[in-house]
Amino acid sequence: MPHRHLRQQQHELLRFLTCGSVDDGKSTLIGRLLYDSQLIFEDTLAAITRDSRKHGTTGDDIDLALLVDGLEAERQQGITIDVAYRFFQTPRRSFIVADTPGHEQYTRNMATGASAASLAVILIDARKGVLTQTRRHSYICSLLGIRDIVVAVNKIDLVKFDQDTFDRIVGDYVTFASELGFRSIVPVPISARYGDNVTSRSGNMPWYNGPTLLEHLETVDVSQDLAARPFRFPVQWVNRPNLDFRGFAGTIASGRIAPGDQVVVAASGKTSRIARIVTADGDLPAAEAGEAVTLTLEDEIDVARGDILVRSAERPPVADQFAGHLLWMDEEAMLPGRGYLMRIGNIWTPCSVTSIRHRVDVNTLEEHAARRLSLNEIGFCNFSAGQPIPLDPYADNRATGAFILVDRFTNRTAGAGMVAFPLRRASNIHHEHFTIDKAARAALVGNTPMVLWFTGLSGSGKSTIANIVEQALHRAGRPTYSLDGDNIRHGLCRDLGFTAEDRVENIRRVGEVAKLFVDAGMVVLCSFISPFRAERRMVRDLLGPGEFTEVFVDTPIEACMARDPKGLYARAQAGQIKNFTGIDSPYEAPEHAELHILTAGRTPEDCAEEVLERLRAAGIAC
Ligand code: ADX
Repeated sequence: MPHRHLRQQQHELLRFLTCGSVDDGKSTLIGRLLYDSQLIFEDTLAAITRDSRKHGTTGDDIDLALLVDGLEAERQQGITIDVAYRFFQTPRRSFIVADTPGHEQYTRNMATGASAASLAVILIDARKGVLTQTRRHSYICSLLGIRDIVVAVNKIDLVKFDQDTFDRIVGDYVTFASELGFRSIVPVPISARYGDNVTSRSGNMPWYNGPTLLEHLETVDVSQDLAARPFRFPVQWVNRPNLDFRGFAGTIASGRIAPGDQVVVAASGKTSRIARIVTADGDLPAAEAGEAVTLTLEDEIDVARGDILVRSAERPPVADQFAGHLLWMDEEAMLPGRGYLMRIGNIWTPCSVTSIRHRVDVNTLEEHAARRLSLNEIGFCNFSAGQPIPLDPYADNRATGAFILVDRFTNRTAGAGMVAFPLRRASNIHHEHFTIDKAARAALVGNTPMVLWFTGLSGSGKSTIANIVEQALHRAGRPTYSLDGDNIRHGLCRDLGFTAEDRVENIRRVGEVAKLFVDAGMVVLCSFISPFRAERRMVRDLLGPGEFTEVFVDTPIEACMARDPKGLYARAQAGQIKNFTGIDSPYEAPEHAELHILTAGRTPEDCAEEVLERLRAAGIAC
């Protein structure tokens, strides 16, 4: 049975990663492990032997770093893969080592490499000792759930195989790492270049009685005993080939299950019992973590892709707000309030950070206040998701407690997150239902509630045009309300300035208010620069179909500057106002606005007429 076989293999497979700064000898170490386990192909080896003489730094010896770096160069051509996985084998175990390049993208690479690894080899240059980088990498390893560490004190030959140096470095490391919750820290003095204590015991360090690096990797117990943990079965797809069969396919993330066991859908609380455990090779009497199976249930209950089947007694908390760590991996900073897509297990849902509780300085482990997370930064944040989701703390379950945030426009994976705990506020608040609803209110006054969203540069004419449109609607007997940047910033948003994060929050609040006014049955005219696509999109998504009309008031910046009704452009150009849109703060022009009004050479009345025309075409008399 293939899946049994797979499980067997997993017992013998150790996934680990190596960390260290560029000169610590990472490539040489991996090269040494590959070389000594004789996995290098003959022709590659011949090439390296030649190259070592030419370019190497090791005289007549083979420069093992060239092996890894050579693979690296190949890999660089397909630049989407940031982490190289290398496979090698000894009679006792198979290994997959994640080689994470140490350049500026280290957080992303480490997150990718470490999330699947169960052990990390932290390389330290014996001449340099514990460095900022050592601390940084160790913290990220701990955050990503790695519990077993090897401290490989490398280049021990360059400090004359000195025991005191080794002891001092190990002492430093253990002191620093005491807060990181590692289960084991095993120090090994090595020379990757000459092979001391890598795969064979060194004669140069009679004072060292511990295992060689490879011995330790071959024997270390890193079992996470996933089968003994609470049962978690994320449904990957619903298999319904005909009316008589309905099975839920997926891989058991943790725990074990047997026919007859009671299960519950984590999010909905619906219960049933396991009827069968189906595989391509027939039914199983039981299955456990790591196995890919199809489960059928005794009752016809609602189960969809993305649901998680669990046991009733071990049901995880379910909430749409929670706290967790977030590693930011995108060039574009994470701004609280901005909408992202979250993927957790097989669920996709909108998600935003509601606040950053603190940012962690990965070099010192100090906690700082922060208003955004930039590339490679790590924060402890509050999140708000678009639907209630089952929340296992990442520390309990790396499979179900991990999530990613995806940029809605670029589709890039922008952040990697780890669930910590649900926020109690989420489960204490319910929706109150009122009998008089939006339709009733709108019908009373014969209105079509909607938002007209005017976006454009400062001085482009948004408010002027909105003002004329509102008058026409008012004359036609339609209840309206205007929300305007300058006005709102005197009240609701008086605490906000013009940094990117403040503008995001400004539009988030305005969007929520506009939604309330639409619910009240009004036509809401919003005039805000709203320079970012993401937030305009967020407001659009808050409203129902047809309720949001984006009007791009497109006035060339030269014209806005020439007008300069409030004298702000002059001051911004003189450097007296910072973050001024169009000067030193960006404006992302709409790409799919319902109305694109080119104002050049036209009167505001003429432009307003264009908006009114559109409304009439939509059946709104005005
Ligand atoms: S938004 O970017 O957050 O949407 P909003 O429309 O509320 O901006 O406010 C813009 C108005 O604030 C401008 O019309 C202008 O009068 C004023 N203002 C003051 N400082 C700035 C600035 N740095 N950038 C843009 N507008 C500013």
